[in-house]
Amino acid sequence: MNYKESQGFPENFLWGSASAAYQVEGAYLEDGKGLSNWDTFVRIPGKTFKGTTGDIAVDHYHRYQEDIQLMGEMGLKTYRFSIAWSRIYPKGKGEINPKGIEFYNHIIDECLKYHIEPMVTIYHWDIPQALVDEYGGWENRQVVEDFVNYATTLFKEYGDRVKYWITMNEQNIFTGHGWLAGMHPPGKVDDEKTFYQVNHHANIAHAKSVLALKKLYLNDLVGASFAYSPSYAYDRKPLNAMAKMDHDDLNIYFWMDVYAYGRYPRTAMKYLESKGVAPLLEKDDERILKEASKLLDFMGVNYYQSCVVEYNPEDGVGTTHEMNTTGIKGTSKVQGVPGLYKKPQNEFLPTTDWDWTIDPMGLRYCCREITSRYDLPIVISENGLGAYDKLEDGKIHDPYRIDYLRSHIEELKKACDDGCRVLAYCTWSYSDVLSWLNGYQKRYGFVYIDRDEQENTGTLNRYKKDSYYWYQKVIQTNGNDLD
Ligand code: BG6
Repeated sequence: MNYKESQGFPENFLWGSASAAYQVEGAYLEDGKGLSNWDTFVRIPGKTFKGTTGDIAVDHYHRYQEDIQLMGEMGLKTYRFSIAWSRIYPKGKGEINPKGIEFYNHIIDECLKYHIEPMVTIYHWDIPQALVDEYGGWENRQVVEDFVNYATTLFKEYGDRVKYWITMNEQNIFTGHGWLAGMHPPGKVDDEKTFYQVNHHANIAHAKSVLALKKLYLNDLVGASFAYSPSYAYDRKPLNAMAKMDHDDLNIYFWMDVYAYGRYPRTAMKYLESKGVAPLLEKDDERILKEASKLLDFMGVNYYQSCVVEYNPEDGVGTTHEMNTTGIKGTSKVQGVPGLYKKPQNEFLPTTDWDWTIDPMGLRYCCREITSRYDLPIVISENGLGAYDKLEDGKIHDPYRIDYLRSHIEELKKACDDGCRVLAYCTWSYSDVLSWLNGYQKRYGFVYIDRDEQENTGTLNRYKKDSYYWYQKVIQTNGNDLD
C-alpha cells in the first residue's frame, strides 16, 4: 500500500537487541551448570568452524554488568536473552541449582535498573545433555513434562519482573538442522519420521508452557520466535506458484499455524501421512494446541532473508546438507526436495559473505502475511547482518551494518503504516557472539568483542562500533532519524 505520510513507530515501541545463552555466556561448567547438547556437540571434530566452542564465548557470565551498562547507555528499551536450562536444572530436572537462578535474577535486575524490559527466551537450542543421555531428549515425549517443569520454574522465579516470554527460538531450525540436515545436535540426517515427532513434542511443550504461564500470570505476553524466510514464486508459471504453496505449507505454516491456530495445515499433514512420516498425536493434543493458540499474544519473527521457490522435478536437486560456514561468498549450492521445489538464488538481490540474501522488503512482507493470516501482534525478535569487522585504533567502522539495519527499519515502519501491530524490534545481536557453526569471525553486534576462533585469545574487551551510536540515535528519535 501507499500512504501520503508515515505515522512512524507507535509510542512505547520496544527498540531492542538480542542474544542467546550458549552464544554469549561462556562459564560452561561454572557454578553448578550441567552440560548441554551443544557443549557436547561442538567437541565432535568437524562440526563447527575451526572447532569453535562456547566454553568462554564472550564471557557475558562474568561481564554482564558491563554489557548491560552499555545497553543502558545506548537507551535500549528491551533486551532479549535466553536462559540456559542446564544452569537452572543441571540434570534437566530434579534439583534446582540456586546459583543458576541467582545469575538470571542479576541479569533481570540489572536490566530493570536501566529501564530495560527483559524479554526471556525459554529455549534457545540448549537442552541438558543429561536428558539426551537418559531418554534421547526431544525424541521422547517425556521431554514435554521436563520442559514444562523447567518453564514453570522460570515463571515462578522471574514472572514478577519479566513480562515478555518467548517459549521456543526457531523451532523450525533446531529440529530441521538437528534431524534432517545433521548440522545441529543430535546430528541426524534425513530422519524425517523422528523430525516430525520431535517437532510435535516441541509444539506440545510450547503449548503447555503457554497454559502454565497464563495460569500464573494472565497478563504476561507470550509468543514463539519463528525463523521466517518468506518465499517468492520463481515466475508466473502456475507450476512454480504451486511449488511455492507446497513450500509454504511444509516450511512456514507448518509452524506458524500451530502457534496461531493450534492445528497443522491440512495439506501438509495429508502429504506426510502419504509418506508415512506424520507425527503421532495423543488424545488431548489437538485440544491443548487449540487452547494455547487462543492465549498466544504475539508472533515472534526472526527475519534474515527471503527465498525463491521453483518447481523441482522428481530427478531434480536434493539437499547437500551443506551451508556456507566459511564466509567465502558464492559457495552455497541450490538445494531442494525432488518432486516438490528447489530454492535458486534471487538474482535481483545482493547477498552477504555467507550467501544470505539481503531483502529489506521481505520484513514488511512477513508482517503483512502474519497480519492478514493471523491478525496477531508481532515481535521482531531477530534481524541483523553477519559480517567481518575490523578493529582499528579502538574503532570499528561498520557502515554496511548501518545500511542493512536502516533499510530493514524503513520497511518495518511501512509495515506499521500498513496497520501491522509491531510491538518490538530486536536486532541480532547486541554484542558480537559465537555464531553456532560459523565461529567468531561472523559478527553481528553493536559492540565488538576482542577475540577470535581460538580459545584464550584476545582481551575480550568491549568496543562500541559506529552502529552502536547510530542505533542510540534511532532509539532516541523513536525511529524518525535513520540517517
Ligand atoms: C538465528 C538464531 O538463527 O540466527 C541465532 O536464533 C543465530 O542464534 C542467528 O546466531 C544468526 O545465525 P548465524 O548462523 O549466522 O549465527
